[in-house]
Amino acid sequence: MMEMMMRNFFLFLSKNRMLTKMSKKYGRRFGAARFVAGETIDEVVQVIKNLNESNLSVTIDHLGEFISSGEEANEMTLQVIKAIKAIRHKQLDSQISVKLTSLGMDISNEIVMRNMQRILRVAEENDVFVTIDMEDYAHCQRTLDLFKQLKKEFHHVGTVIQAYLYRSEKDIEDLRKYSPHLRLVKGAYKESKEVAYPMKKDVDENFKKIIKMHLINGNYTAIATHDDQIIEYTKQIIREHKIPTDQCEFQMLYGIRPEKQMELAKQGYKMRVYVPYGGDWYGYFMRRLAERPANVLFVLKGMMRK
Ligand code: FDA
Repeated sequence: MMEMMMRNFFLFLSKNRMLTKMSKKYGRRFGAARFVAGETIDEVVQVIKNLNESNLSVTIDHLGEFISSGEEANEMTLQVIKAIKAIRHKQLDSQISVKLTSLGMDISNEIVMRNMQRILRVAEENDVFVTIDMEDYAHCQRTLDLFKQLKKEFHHVGTVIQAYLYRSEKDIEDLRKYSPHLRLVKGAYKESKEVAYPMKKDVDENFKKIIKMHLINGNYTAIATHDDQIIEYTKQIIREHKIPTDQCEFQMLYGIRPEKQMELAKQGYKMRVYVPYGGDWYGYFMRRLAERPANVLFVLKGMMRK
């Protein structure tokens, strides 16, 4: 009950526009540095190099969401393009993750489509894969529609399916003909019980169902979780169905369970770390606090120490 109240509270804060603005002004505070690798691409390059040296692959995310002007969307697009070029230039083992609301989705379909095409052209030239993160339910259908359109034109693009949504199984089935590269997650936003499973145990069951389904379909599957129970289940499916190791990978967030990330890499699984960076860290940070009370304790301890 208490956990649910805290989750709702932090998810509510994650969408507060005034606090978002203030956070941009004051830099990574209150423990955010544990989850957000740096403010600029130059700062994050060293973090990627260190992870790569430990046999960990990376996907970077230039933070930003729910922007409302064409100029901001253009600026974000240029930042993503700069990051793609830096990955190639420095020969880093890294992909890119993007949020469509940061590229103008709330302004118009034309703007977000044009920005994604600009990004994917550079991504293909530089052989860097781009994953479209999945945001809240209000953007889900449009994200999938845009993904399908882009997939007709580009190879280097994938997206995300959230296990908490009732629709996820059907979405995987519908996407099957595109042979999509999908990241499967539990889902991080506050959704109503009309569209999403309210109980954690149902989310976990559905997560297992879609992991098995997508792996057996023969499509590339990134299982993004810190949950041992889901990780063990995935390993079992990989063994039982002889899924080739180059058809799947595990993913975890930067700063969360680094020892488990190393363990999976040592066991021979491809392990990718999602590394966020940039000034717009607030919404991302609040969602991490919502996920786990221990993250809040960590932050409080950090504040006491200062
Ligand atoms: P959950 O939070 O249910 O935790 C299960 C168990 O994992 C815990 O009980 C504990 O045992 C262990 N655990 C979790 N955190 C731990 C910690 N800090 N230390 C020790 N143990 C810990 N969401 C979304 O909606 N759209 C998206 O595009 C993405 N993208 C994305 C990329 C990547 C790489 C990841 C890892 C996650 C996302 N997510 C996401 C977020 C995702 O939906 C989800 O909110 C979080 O991953 C938390 O769910 P878990 O599966 O980790 O398990």
